[in-house]
Amino acid sequence: MENNSNGNKSPLVEIRNLKQYFTIKNTDGKKAYVKAVDDVSFDIFKGETLGLVGESGSGKTTLGRSMLRIYNPTSGSVKIDGVDITKFQGKKLLPYRKKMQYIFQDPYASLDPRMTVSDIVGEALDIHGLASSKSDRADKVRELLTLVGLNTEHASRYPHEFSGGQRQRIGIARAIAVQPDFIVCDEPVSALDVSIRAQIINTLEEMQDRLDLTYLFISHDLGVVRHTCDRVGVMYLGHIVELVESEELYKNPMHPYTRALLTAIPEPNPDTAKKRNRIILKGEIPSPVNPPSGCKFRTRCPYAKDVCSKKTPELADHGNGHFVSCHFAGEI
Ligand SMILES: Nc1ncnc2c1ncn2[C@@H]1O[C@H](COP(=O)(O)OP(=O)(O)O)[C@@H](O)[C@H]1O
Ligand SMILES: [Mg+2]
Repeated sequence: MENNSNGNKSPLVEIRNLKQYFTIKNTDGKKAYVKAVDDVSFDIFKGETLGLVGESGSGKTTLGRSMLRIYNPTSGSVKIDGVDITKFQGKKLLPYRKKMQYIFQDPYASLDPRMTVSDIVGEALDIHGLASSKSDRADKVRELLTLVGLNTEHASRYPHEFSGGQRQRIGIARAIAVQPDFIVCDEPVSALDVSIRAQIINTLEEMQDRLDLTYLFISHDLGVVRHTCDRVGVMYLGHIVELVESEELYKNPMHPYTRALLTAIPEPNPDTAKKRNRIILKGEIPSPVNPPSGCKFRTRCPYAKDVCSKKTPELADHGNGHFVSCHFAGEI
């Protein structure tokens, strides 16, 4: 896929034909593969926030972790700043681990309950040798806590002493401590009270401006990504089915699955709402162990024809960087 139609923006992350399969044992004891991410290619531009949406189980978390080498990809490549890190291990991988960080969905589960905030944030500094002395480390921790809106007097407290929103701020401080270029934010507000979600999103946006960060922002909620993301990718059963600038996705969704997702959220603008062909999804998302042949969405698609079971549609540019993977894109 060529992804240069977005003007002269340069890619920070380039993903090509990425596959992440998990081996499982079937009930009959035979080996089977969960094709959680199955042949995914796209770029993330420097400084942008790329949203990644899709139903639960579509492979968003796996894709984020596979990109960051939390998993060893089954095949394909992930380049950061032009360097393919897919096969790097140990010391060779460490500098890239510093460039790429992860903010978890559940701030509580992702923080060690036996460590103080100061140790949680300080540990990240230690791993990458970013503090020259004990007092330098303490200074840096205080600076980071202030930056994300936490009280520095709370540095010696444990995660359980904080609210959900404050815990997520600790997660953000830990991620930015190592001065990364790229952060995967995996549903960073889904586990939080609705009333504080906007504050956490504001903090993430503020960090992005101050620190020149690039984000992959994962969410199952299309409403949340609309205003936070520059572009949005829609994922279905391990595939990206549509990828385009946010506003365009809402105004002119081309993939039937995207339309179905948008049908479920209210659209305040009647003109925009009218343009969208309402699609009510039938059935459940199929198992990634035995995905449908050809187009993976065809079993739930009201427009599916013969070709859809025979040929996998490419994620192709339909103009101005509007990528769609559908044999009938533009016709339906
Ligand atoms: N470690 C694993 N072993 C086996 N299957 C997994 C593993 N992690 C995720 N999966 C499966 O991969 C698919 C995608 O999961 P996930 O990436 O968590 O989706 P999402 O984040 O979009 O909800 C699901 O069917 C899930 O059950
Ligand atoms: Mg997930």
